[in-house]
Formats: sequence, structure tokens, C-alpha cells
Amino acid sequence: MPAYRWGDIEQEVIDPGFSDVRGAVVRGREIAVSRIVYPAGAEVGLHALPKEQIQTVIRGTARFRVAGEERIVGPAEAVLIRPHAPFALQVLEEFEVLRFGDVGAGDGRPEARSGAGQPFFRWAELTADFITPKRSSARGTTITGERIEVALMHFTAGTEAKPHSHPNEQIQVPLRGKIRGLAGTEVVSGPGEVILIPALIQHWAAVLEDYEAVNGKNIVPGWSVYNARWEK
Ligand SMILES: [Fe+2]
Repeated sequence: MPAYRWGDIEQEVIDPGFSDVRGAVVRGREIAVSRIVYPAGAEVGLHALPKEQIQTVIRGTARFRVAGEERIVGPAEAVLIRPHAPFALQVLEEFEVLRFGDVGAGDGRPEARSGAGQPFFRWAELTADFITPKRSSARGTTITGERIEVALMHFTAGTEAKPHSHPNEQIQVPLRGKIRGLAGTEVVSGPGEVILIPALIQHWAAVLEDYEAVNGKNIVPGWSVYNARWEK
């Protein structure tokens, strides 16, 4: 399966017109993930986009304004910026985030709504559960938006995700540990890398070391992580 190293990806301007900050981007057909390190004092001016973003914070702090709500956000927290939600950012301490977003045309997905809804999450306060219990040992929590969903997942060494496929595209960013996976080609992957699993491609994984990853998918009606048809 396609795997990328953040360090090999050329940096590009992440919020053109609103900030000069650069980051590395891995793009699929439906979703993308960016790794961005904002310097202290960086700002992203107030703007709204038709696309959705879910950002999870690795380190540092920043003041977010999303859909009229304001909060200082730090490690182990996440921000959901729904389509058309006005959004601004002011960085307090050097701030590293993983940002998932939708890039596809939106075919088959529900029309974006008003952008209203809870934007701020603490991963530890969300209810952890087995994500796809019949197929995988992954345990974790999921933030679900209108177009994308992002999970913080933990796997125990020696367990596996059985072969499966789904119409969602999947991008996984390892944070800790090591996994061996197969989707066409086999990879051993860990921190510093990104795994992109195209829609409908069968894939599996064996967990070599206790493993933590952030996992993003585009939302396909009826194929959420909690009601995927391959679970039945
Ligand atoms: Fe999968």
C-alpha cells in the first residue's frame, strides 16, 4: 500500500491567502492529511471553506475561533471545522498538528449544512470502544464530521486487522509503535510515515509493537467505522 515519509514530502503553503505557513500534504482522491508546524505567533485569518477539516494537536498551543466559539487548544485535543464554518487561528507556542480534510468532489455525500455544532474535543473524554470488533483489535475514539471522520486508534502488539475493504478511502498516520500491512504491496510502518489505502482495496495489518495511529476516512453513507457493512 502506498506509504510516504513526511520528511520526503516537499512543503507547501497550507492556507493560501490566509497564512504563509508551510506543511507537508499527502493527498488521496477523497481525503488528504497535512502535517503542519506553525511557529509561535503565526496567525491564520478568519475564513470559511466549503471543505471540512479535523485537526488533532501533537504539541504546542493555539487559540482557535470556530463558528463563533473560541478556545485555547493543546496536545491530545482536536478541532472539527465543518464546511462553511468561519475559522481563525492564533499560535501561542510552536504548534504541530495533523489536519485531515476532504478533497473530493463530494459525489454521493450529503450536502454541507450550516457549519454549526461542537468544534472542540478532548480525545480522552470521548468514549473508547472497539472500532470494528469483528475484524480488528483496534480500540479508540472517533470524531465524525459531515464529510470525514478521524479516529485515534490503539492496537496491542501481536494482534491484527483481518483482510477487509470498504468504499471509504483511508489515511493512517502512525504516532507510536510499528505495524506490518498489506494492500497490494507490503509495508512496515511507524512514526514519521503516512499510509494511504485507496477505496475498495483489500487490506490487513499485523501489529508488531503496541501501536497508536490517527486514522482518517471520508464518510460514505452506511459505511461509518461503527456500521460498516463488512461487519455483518
Ligand atoms: Fe480499513
